[in-house]
Amino acid sequence: MQNILVTGGAGFIGSNFVHYMLTHHAQYHLVVYDKLTYAGNLDNLIQIQDDPRYTFIHGDICDRDAIEAAVKQHDIDTIINFAAETHVDRSIMNPDAFIKTSVNGTYTLLEVARSLELERYHQISTDEVYGHIPPGRSSKETDNVAPRSPYAASKASADLLVNAYHVTYGLPVTITRGSNNIGPYQYPEKAVPLFATNAIDNLPLPVYGDGRQMREYQHVRDHCEAIDLVLHRGVIGETYNIGTGVEVENMRMIEILLEALDRPRSLIRHVVDRPGHDRRYSLDIAKITALGWEPDHSPEEAIIATAAWYKENEWWWRKIKSGEFRQYYEAQYGERLRTAAPQ
Ligand code: NAD
Ligand code: DAU
Repeated sequence: MQNILVTGGAGFIGSNFVHYMLTHHAQYHLVVYDKLTYAGNLDNLIQIQDDPRYTFIHGDICDRDAIEAAVKQHDIDTIINFAAETHVDRSIMNPDAFIKTSVNGTYTLLEVARSLELERYHQISTDEVYGHIPPGRSSKETDNVAPRSPYAASKASADLLVNAYHVTYGLPVTITRGSNNIGPYQYPEKAVPLFATNAIDNLPLPVYGDGRQMREYQHVRDHCEAIDLVLHRGVIGETYNIGTGVEVENMRMIEILLEALDRPRSLIRHVVDRPGHDRRYSLDIAKITALGWEPDHSPEEAIIATAAWYKENEWWWRKIKSGEFRQYYEAQYGERLRTAAPQ
């Protein structure tokens, strides 16, 4: 591994991964290939823009000619695919781009990797492919996928294609399925950065339903470290869950955030729930821990560190929240907040 194409590298996890790799591996060249959708943001990569080990290419993963050209030009041996539409609520509003990017886009990347005989293809997947997990159970990598939102279905479809290319064509693939990431540079549509930035501005926090849903909130840096480990020590053809093994109810996540930001509980509003809302995800992480990884942050530490980052980096999120985001916010929350039950 020498020259890595990081698709979706201008997004939240992809950009954190690029920072992580440049810090931990002096010898790699990282080529970020990104469409710069509303979620892609070159501000996430501003600190490394002059690093000669980093290159940016503006492109769509559905564009085969452009990907092939990028791979040939930079002598790419490894593709790591972070590119996707990633917000469940937007997938409910309009699934179209989700299917195009995760299904057609992943297929296109796999075709390029196969025809140019790349050394490795790694797919970034999610715990959402397993669907809602009843209490007392955790998802193992060998479990069947059972996605329930258009987003989760688009990601599960991509995983199936990746595995099919390994079985049928012998493509050297690996997959990681991460739990709910939080940390620097997460677009403030996602619950933790939305609630943190709303709380900073003393705006209401729209909690879906009773807020008793459970997520494994993990620090993005821990996730990046585990992906790095799988790239170097993972077994070809295998899938690895990456989580914390600790579930946190959304109401608890909010309490930690409000305390960290010194804001009152009166900001909480229970609003109409997300349709098909998965109540619980839970990953069995025995396989990745057996490779020698464990998270550095507890969920509480990750939430507190994330709150602090948003407090210190208003330059990053105020631009976003004052732009297109306002129309999205009105469509997603306007009616919900106007009809929210008082506390
Ligand atoms: P994000 O929405 O912050 O970033 C996605 C990036 O992909 C953006 O830079 C966007 O411009 C780019 N992109 C979208 N469509 C593209 C296309 N057609 N061609 C090229 N680039 C395109 O997402 P994220 O939260 O960083 O998630 C990254 C990956 O990790 C996704 O595959 C997601 O499914 C997966 N994942 C996310 C989480 C999480 O908690 N955020 C957890 C597990 C897995
Ligand atoms: O679990 C991994 C997944 O985590 C990733 O695959 C997705 O890309 C990522 O978006 C995230 O999905 P979630 O749906 O879990 O994240 P979100 O931040 O949207 O929501 C977290 C929880 O908070 C979830 O139970 C829904 C709830 N929520 C969310 C929003 C945006 C609210 O109660 N209110 C909100 O306004």
